[in-house]
Amino acid sequence: MELPEELKDRQLSEIVEPLLQWYDLHARVLPWREEPTPYRGWVSEIMLQQTRVEAGKPYFERVLAALPDVTALAEAPETRLLKLWEGLGYYNRVRNLQKAARRIVGEFGGRFPADFEQLLSLPGIGEYTAGAIASISFGQPVPAVDGNVLRVVARLSGSRADVADPAVRRAFGRALQAVYPAGRCGDFTQSLMELGAIVCLPNGMPKCESCPLSSCCTARRDGSFAELPVKPAKKARKIEARTVFILRCGDRIALRRRPKTGLLAGLWELPSAAGTLTPEAAAAQLRKWRLAAGPLRPAAGGKHIFTHLEWHMTGYIAECRSPSAGFEWTDRRRLTEEISLPSAFKAFADSLFG
Ligand code: ADE
Ligand code: SF4
Repeated sequence: MELPEELKDRQLSEIVEPLLQWYDLHARVLPWREEPTPYRGWVSEIMLQQTRVEAGKPYFERVLAALPDVTALAEAPETRLLKLWEGLGYYNRVRNLQKAARRIVGEFGGRFPADFEQLLSLPGIGEYTAGAIASISFGQPVPAVDGNVLRVVARLSGSRADVADPAVRRAFGRALQAVYPAGRCGDFTQSLMELGAIVCLPNGMPKCESCPLSSCCTARRDGSFAELPVKPAKKARKIEARTVFILRCGDRIALRRRPKTGLLAGLWELPSAAGTLTPEAAAAQLRKWRLAAGPLRPAAGGKHIFTHLEWHMTGYIAECRSPSAGFEWTDRRRLTEEISLPSAFKAFADSLFG
């Protein structure tokens, strides 16, 4: 795709100096910025893809303390990895992280490739992440266009192009690449992200009065910041009702593995059934599972929002007479120390062991 007219005509180079000066003064102190090795940068970028900076910080410290380098990551047992990642969601991120770590150890002698194309070839690393690592960790003039950067560039330029279109992302990236400042490539990447994260805020609420780019910003000048960036209407998420069972037997509860593919692939879960079951239907479900149990009691339910799907969950608690086959009967210690239960089941956390 051609560059949007707005970007072609604009002097994007005008923003470089004021933005870098602002970044020097106002950048947040973040753990991956203090010691910006490629490994730390990479882990932080993967973590921050679907996680806010504030929520990600403690996880970053925890993962780095447990797995201080790429070899430690490559060699970690999967259960340990999933436990470290527990609560962050999007578990394929951490699985790909390990696949990539194994390739870095196996094919690149444990040293991170600095080359954009080689970075792109690694599992879980797309154009954004490859650009972030190449510029932040290796000082190369490669843009990293995330949602924050798209918003900043769309507002600066007044572009009404659809920012969900990959061709538009690339066009924005090319426009930025042309003005990358030698010697400060990583800071330029991070300054764009940072401006989007703390000044050029989404939902029509940018803090233009404290923005270093306000004198050259189209959206500021014509008041269009509330309409930009233009995104297509999102498809409504599918809603799935589920009935979740807390099956107790003595001091243990029943877990099972999810199927190897699809949503929460291969992860542990609380047993559940489709739909909102009446107490009678729930009791019938227990019989199907060949479980003899006392009377069912309702448990507080909850919602969980995935990318394209919402689970609306109701719950039942049942005291079972024996730990029947087909489930993994797990006590509190194992659940705390070893097994990671996806955050989708958080609503039930307080009801698990009574
Ligand atoms: N979000 C994604 N990458 C980031 C970074 N390097 N700094 C701050 N926020 C980010
Ligand atoms: Fe965003 Fe306002 Fe700055 Fe323009 S002036 S980049 S709209 S914060």
